[in-house]
Amino acid sequence: MIRTLDDLDAEGAALGVRVDINSPLGRDGLADDARLRAHVDTIDECCGLGARVALLAHQGRPGGDEFSDLSAHADRLDDLLDAPVGYCDATFTAAARDSVAALEDGEAVLLENTRFYSEEYMSFEPDVAAETFLVSRLAPALDAYVNDAFAAAHRSQPSIVGFPTALDAYAGRVMERELDVLGNIEESPEPRVYVLGGAKVEDSIDVARSVLERGLADSVLTAGIVGNAFLLADGVSLGAASAGVVNERSHKAVKAAGDLLDDFSHRIYMPRDIAVERDGERVEVDLDDLPAEEPAMDIGARTLAAYADILEDAGTAILNGPPGVFEDERFEFGTRELYGAATRAEMSIVGGGDTAAAMRKLGVEGFDHVSTGGGAALRMLSGETLAGVEALRV
Ligand code: 3PG
Repeated sequence: MIRTLDDLDAEGAALGVRVDINSPLGRDGLADDARLRAHVDTIDECCGLGARVALLAHQGRPGGDEFSDLSAHADRLDDLLDAPVGYCDATFTAAARDSVAALEDGEAVLLENTRFYSEEYMSFEPDVAAETFLVSRLAPALDAYVNDAFAAAHRSQPSIVGFPTALDAYAGRVMERELDVLGNIEESPEPRVYVLGGAKVEDSIDVARSVLERGLADSVLTAGIVGNAFLLADGVSLGAASAGVVNERSHKAVKAAGDLLDDFSHRIYMPRDIAVERDGERVEVDLDDLPAEEPAMDIGARTLAAYADILEDAGTAILNGPPGVFEDERFEFGTRELYGAATRAEMSIVGGGDTAAAMRKLGVEGFDHVSTGGGAALRMLSGETLAGVEALRV
């Protein structure tokens, strides 16, 4: 069983609330605040109940371009929330503990990027994670822990798996919603149609194998680089440019796609045409007219029509990864239209960071559930458990 905020006596309690506000950064700070918005309900609810909230979060990876402090995140959260949100540039030291102790009931403080400390970027078993500096020094300043960071729940890092050993732990509202939907896929309406695109081609093929083997998917519609890996495995000569893009992403993709086709060819659908850039224009090319010199940038209208027919009758549509380079408006057609078709399924679920970003950019609305998680959503859809979720079980 996993306890939720309904089980928590929050009034006057010092709560450590782990959120995932890891966001794309622009020159002037946050380039997208969707992940911050997602946590507003949980944080406002905790503050509204009179808790003193210490927010824990990461941003980027050590050495990466998006590795930064959380001051911009704190400012934005302060704008978004009813409760005041301060910022403390320490995570577990005396300064951090003092900032928690100084909170009035109903106030929040965002502590510094947990990944500024090397232990947070390592994987641990929960009981060992509880002995790290972050957990062993901060936990005594807290009364309970709430994990709302579904998008980071696949990491066995101290801020995710260590606190539940040291403190009573609860799922926040984001975590609860994600688990309700993604954790119960097998109960969603049938037939279930998975639409797999995006650039993480090997991950998508793993998901396809897992959902086909477990009998979760009635059909898998492949698109984008994933679709091209299946076309290559099926012997279609896409052209050197498209084949190069697939192989650059993963040398194993075509072989993995071929193995899956051997086992489940009747349930896997492949693109019927692709769109390329020719003389600066979008040009759609049928499979019969391949190979093309230019790389595939999108699916074409024939593929869309075939896929839309299948989605029309779907009980559940689960989308992961855009079918085209939607950032370029000449190639947003497939993504916009395919997502639009998916919203007409009885239940529609969008998983994965890129997919959710595509949906926001193209203004496609009407999904039943848009996951905040990239890797975490993929793992759940593949039937794997998440370390952060397991750590919450009592
Ligand atoms: C994500 O963006 O998927 C999560 O914030 C986890 O980030 P990570 O892949 O750097 O652990």
